[in-house]
Amino acid sequence: MELKSEILHLLRNSQDYISGQELCNKFQVSRTAIWKNINSLKEEGYDIGAVRNRGYLLRETSDVLNGEEIKRYLHTKYMAGHIIFQKEMDSTNIRAKQAYKENMPEGTLVITEKQTAGRGRRGRMWDSPQGEAIYMTLLLKPAVHPADASTITLVMALSLAKTFQELYSLPDGQEGVQIKWPNDLVLHKKKITGILTEMSADMDSIHFAIIGVGINVNMTEFSEDIKEKATSLRLETGLTLPRAKVVAKAMEYFEADYEKFMESHTMKGLKEDYEKFLVNMDASVRVLDPKGEYTGIARGINEKGELLVERDGEIIQVYSGEVSVRGIYGYV
Ligand code: BTN
Repeated sequence: MELKSEILHLLRNSQDYISGQELCNKFQVSRTAIWKNINSLKEEGYDIGAVRNRGYLLRETSDVLNGEEIKRYLHTKYMAGHIIFQKEMDSTNIRAKQAYKENMPEGTLVITEKQTAGRGRRGRMWDSPQGEAIYMTLLLKPAVHPADASTITLVMALSLAKTFQELYSLPDGQEGVQIKWPNDLVLHKKKITGILTEMSADMDSIHFAIIGVGINVNMTEFSEDIKEKATSLRLETGLTLPRAKVVAKAMEYFEADYEKFMESHTMKGLKEDYEKFLVNMDASVRVLDPKGEYTGIARGINEKGELLVERDGEIIQVYSGEVSVRGIYGYV
């Protein structure tokens, strides 16, 4: 282990201050070496208190995001088995496509603190400032028909809903986390997470699917233009959790849910769970169908992940276009 990791390890396991002298003696290095490494840890975001005559203390409020921190919390077989972390990237989706070209294995996770060209759905940008959110993309190589691959987006939405419910002790229903079909996560009717899935395929097989996820974890403010529609887990729950812990838990749930999806290439084993979180369930929805808009009542999803909308006593399967939900994000 390099000196910096060893110092971190020691600080982590100590309830009390550790003096600089103690660290020098333990590692047989100079005060300057200790001081330099402590500074470097601070630059990475570790909240280390330094008090004259007492020494150093790692505070619990540290929210450092990097591969090492994620691995501390991780209990998976292969999801996030490889982690590509950089402090800054253009977009984790772009980097994940490159990872595929570099032959990185299924389950490779690309993650960053800040994106300079974060992308949302429908060509929109995804504002990605430093420090309080999660921007990550998972590389998958599912052996499924290309037509079934987009369902994986719903699987991810479900895994994230379970993650937030567990970590933030949220109840079922409107007070808890909900999914706006197909894959936005909302809390108290505001968006907390978006998912952008992209894939490359030929006629009957998938080369890769990449699932890009942006989670508003610890932000405390939003710009004027989005604060009516967006919020963070911290703002809604009052809890500040380490982002690395959120990532690790999401990987665990996703690994299990993805395995279930792969059994049938459908939402068969996950549909019930998904519907429990569905904000649109039995609610009026407006379907923005290119062939003509209409209003109906959402009645859940089918195994393909399509939204079932009841209209004049008939059930319509909505598989494309956008569904706008009454009362969500303040729009009708
Ligand atoms: C949406 O429009 O709701 C989807 C937003 C997806 C944003 C994430 S952030 C990590 C990954 N990299 C990107 O450039 N976009 C996705």
